[in-house]
Amino acid sequence: MFNFNASRWTRAQAMKVNKFDLTTSMPEIGTNFPIMRDDLWLWDTWPLRDINGNPVSFKGWNVIFSLVADRNIPWNDRHSHARIGYFYSKDGKSWVYGGHLLQESANTRTAEWSGGTIMAPGSRNQVETFFTSTLFDKNGVREAVAAVTKGRIYADSEGVWFKGFDQSTDLFQADGLFYQNYAENNLWNFRDPHVFINPEDGETYALFEANVATVRGEDDIGEDEIGPVPANTVVPKDANLCSASIGIARCLSPDRTEWELLPPLLTAFGVNDQMERPHVIFQNGLTYLFTISHDSTYADGLTGSDGLYGFVSENGIFGPYEPLNGSGLVLGGPASQPTEAYAHYIMNNGLVESFINEIIDPKSGKVIAGGSLAPTVRVELQGHETFATEVFDYGYIPASYAWPVWPFPDRRK
Ligand code: FRU
Repeated sequence: MFNFNASRWTRAQAMKVNKFDLTTSMPEIGTNFPIMRDDLWLWDTWPLRDINGNPVSFKGWNVIFSLVADRNIPWNDRHSHARIGYFYSKDGKSWVYGGHLLQESANTRTAEWSGGTIMAPGSRNQVETFFTSTLFDKNGVREAVAAVTKGRIYADSEGVWFKGFDQSTDLFQADGLFYQNYAENNLWNFRDPHVFINPEDGETYALFEANVATVRGEDDIGEDEIGPVPANTVVPKDANLCSASIGIARCLSPDRTEWELLPPLLTAFGVNDQMERPHVIFQNGLTYLFTISHDSTYADGLTGSDGLYGFVSENGIFGPYEPLNGSGLVLGGPASQPTEAYAHYIMNNGLVESFINEIIDPKSGKVIAGGSLAPTVRVELQGHETFATEVFDYGYIPASYAWPVWPFPDRRK
């Protein structure tokens, strides 16, 4: 039905999601989980990395960025208050909070939503944060624009600090042709730019979360979106309200500020409404496209876990893609706590970090908000299958190598 040829995540594939499969399950997080900061909610998190996806340390410090908001704000209201905060540690897990990354003046809209932070290729200490500049009005998200803000990183024996990040540049936004915009659906999603160099053509691209451009509820789900389901399967009419896609844009300028939108890589029309935080790993000649999704965003008639989902291509970034493990689920909440964590992010080293969302106290049934990092899990990628193996400490996000640095000391003033 769309005028482009994207791979599809079908209802038939999503029916294979199995919360009870231990090879795709997070460890159960108990009610007594550790909290990183008692003054902050923190959720979506990403490491300082190179443009090829490897987490890097700077002058002996591991560095991560998280969406943060004051813990006095009700947990479910945090999104409209989100700012990007940064943390540093020597050991990749004892994180010290450094403050907000962006100056007050840098974001012209209400909130700073997810993205990623790279060391500018070839630079000594130039840092670029790609993020979603999000404007709210009383009905919700009114504008969502992929943006970049730039600055420099410094460190000494006491810690890490940043300068710059006092302005941002808008990069791209939903066009209503490939990617649904506000006019087509006031519950649209467009966010989470992930910038990388494609090893096949050496060009720079950005992945992002979007919805397929269709006026909400106006198109019907077709056979291609349903896939080979059992004969008596009913597809509820309202399933067509869900239209997730993973989008891609190509970079046109060496300073990474000019971009053109390309058609989506993957669509989930009639299957799920959100494929968030997309990112990519190139391994053993295969292209692994990862994203996160939620039980609550599945289309009518389907359920699943909150967690990391993945798709694999044997022909490079433009696909075609098939779901990993047959279903797409790579690492979800355990059957006992299916929504315990989300915003999973898998690094080239196979480590998957995520944040604690909501833990249901098995005794009282009360929901305990998390707002801190979950245990890190190693996932092995083997062809079209994945296997969860080791479990590490809460918030373990170690760098893979040290960024080459200027030999002179950095000065704070
Ligand atoms: C889920 C997510 C991201 C978004 C952020 C907003 O991880 O919805 O897509 O950028 O949280 O809080």
